[in-house]
Amino acid sequence: MALTERQASELAYHRERARTQTSILNQPFSWDVINHPSRRWWNAYWQMYAYLVTLNLKGKRALVVGCGYGEDALRLAKLGADVYAFDLSSDSVSIAGALAEREGLNIVFAVMPAETMTYDNDFFDVVIARDILHHVDIPRTINEIFRVSKCDALFLANEIYSHSFTDKVRHSILVERVIYPRMQTFIYGRGKPYITEHERKLTEQDIQKIVKPLRKVVFKKYFNFLVTRIIPDRYDYFSKIDRLLLILLRPIAPFLAGRILFSGHIKK
Ligand SMILES: C[S@@+](CC[C@H](N)C(=O)[O-])C[C@H]1O[C@@H](n2cnc3c(N)ncnc32)[C@H](O)[C@@H]1O
Repeated sequence: MALTERQASELAYHRERARTQTSILNQPFSWDVINHPSRRWWNAYWQMYAYLVTLNLKGKRALVVGCGYGEDALRLAKLGADVYAFDLSSDSVSIAGALAEREGLNIVFAVMPAETMTYDNDFFDVVIARDILHHVDIPRTINEIFRVSKCDALFLANEIYSHSFTDKVRHSILVERVIYPRMQTFIYGRGKPYITEHERKLTEQDIQKIVKPLRKVVFKKYFNFLVTRIIPDRYDYFSKIDRLLLILLRPIAPFLAGRILFSGHIKK
């Protein structure tokens, strides 16, 4: 398959990363987030499952876009969905496949770019995109998601986000050259930050374009004001305050947040 420059670069990065992640297969898989989803109410990932567990997914055909090592695919399968999942990286998909086999779950995995999916039209009841849209060509991927979804299918996204104004501040010379290098180790720890060359946070304009063709937006929630930006997410105490702040400042949350969780039904 002929890849764009961006896809080739993403593939090279994630292929390399997958080589360092094979220990996942020696660790137990955690089902906490589907068994006790409200436990970490301040966290977007747990909130996503707090919503997913309220749906009846039994027998629903669900797609996980850019599935990585398969965490969401496995969890959706455990919730009873017929899961299809794909990623650009065959190395990641093989880890996901091995995990699913180990957990006794039947999931249909594939390797392909999100911009050119091979699924039939009108095939899925549910589509989940977590931390993937900021790695892809958004218009092409959204076109594909809409094409492969049934009319009224549920679309759920959980993505890194920044208002374009906040993003400008983040990429100002002062932050880029002076503040960020000094904060990097505190935020990400000693390891190399997991950031690819071509990824870019979704802006309010991206969200507007994605949400526009939805028949109904079920919810739109904003997370991570200071957490993950200047405060690491390992401090639950700060994460809770951060989430409460964004709830209190709801009208201006789109300017402040660093992550968005939203869902809607696809109109055809
Ligand atoms: C940050 S990871 C997220 C993985 C998974 N969704 C999760 O949240 O654990 C980004 C993933 O996107 C995949 N990816 C990057 N570009 C892609 C593309 N054009 N099509 C499909 N997958 C892509 C990468 O291989 C990687 O697995």
